[in-house]
Amino acid sequence: MRHFRIAAIPGDGIGIEVVAAGIEVLDACAQRDGGFALKFDHFDWGSAHYKKHGLMMPANGLDRIKNHDAIFFGAVGAPDVPDHVTLWGLRLAICQSFDQYANVRPTRVLPGITSPLRHVSGRELDWVIVRENSEGEYAGVGGRIHRGLPEEVATEVAVFTRSGVVRIMRFAFEMARSRPRKLLTVVTKSNAQRHAMVMWDEIAAEVAGEFSDVTWDKMLVDAMTMRMTLRPETLDTVVATNLHADILSDLAAALAGSLGIAPTANLNPERKFPSMFEPIHGSAFDITGKGIANPVATFWSGSMMLEHLGERAAATRLMRAIERVTADPTLHTPDLGGQATTRQVTDAVREAVLGDNR
Ligand code: NAI
Ligand code: MG
Repeated sequence: MRHFRIAAIPGDGIGIEVVAAGIEVLDACAQRDGGFALKFDHFDWGSAHYKKHGLMMPANGLDRIKNHDAIFFGAVGAPDVPDHVTLWGLRLAICQSFDQYANVRPTRVLPGITSPLRHVSGRELDWVIVRENSEGEYAGVGGRIHRGLPEEVATEVAVFTRSGVVRIMRFAFEMARSRPRKLLTVVTKSNAQRHAMVMWDEIAAEVAGEFSDVTWDKMLVDAMTMRMTLRPETLDTVVATNLHADILSDLAAALAGSLGIAPTANLNPERKFPSMFEPIHGSAFDITGKGIANPVATFWSGSMMLEHLGERAAATRLMRAIERVTADPTLHTPDLGGQATTRQVTDAVREAVLGDNR
């Protein structure tokens, strides 16, 4: 029996609802498989913790999860706590400290789900976006002086290191190589940003030399939004900076049908630290407590976690179960135009996992 210890951090809002649903489904995966067991440790960190203790997680929080095999995360964000406090206090604190520099965001149109693009029925949109997750525009470097005065100055410094760019480029080329089309698009903005983005392009070209079997091209980020919308079938694997990929992946999620199905993995590829798996969406206070959050993004993230843990058969089985459920419009939550509840979708995916006879 293979044993895995998972740190479950649901966070805030619908994060709490979808992580609970995800744990039920992952438990069903372990039960159906029979070869591995998941032990979840639960951490109630987030905005409620912040309001009580002034910190999103305890001072020794990272020590308490650094030896887990993976982190299963929900979302952070509360209407009465500033977003930069919630984000930097928990999610980014974990990503940065555990050097989860590769953020992987698969996007495709699942069966039964309608893309807002009228010429896309499914196969034409099948991407993996690789987001640099440790530096760039979200390095957290900068400052403010003369606060509140007319002379106030604020700087937000985008930091790009050669080692940081080399490692994400290598990761992205490997990812492209592992997929049938072996096709990578490097997103840039080196026409306007003439220092770091020019280095980014140069390093892409250098690393490309190590991957002669991968076809690659370069795209300015603004033009990329048009290509994603008008010619989605020309893309496969995409690599972009922290900020660019943040924005492009929300567009990707919308083009694939809903933010409520989009998953992500924050990977420390060297496995020196645990990696973290989470839906892309936030805490969605507009629907919190209504029982209608789409749990599919969290289930898909759970499948990525199983894959990372080496449980490939269970990961594939969970994706099969998700696709069987999305194919049935009576099991669509309101974000997909349906009326199903989180509970109904969760039960259906659980049953599909347990009843899977492959
Ligand atoms: P959001 O992702 O929470 O919600 C955007 C819209 O999508 C809302 O209308 C919401 O109802 C809908 N939505 C999101 N997930 C859904 C799901 N699973 N099922 C059905 N509908 C879903 O983004 P928003 O509203 O900009 O931010 C809310 C809070 O979440 C903010 O505090 C923000 O900082 C935080 N946030 C946190 C993230 C994280 O923890 N990784 C990521 C994005 C936002
Ligand atoms: Mg985002």
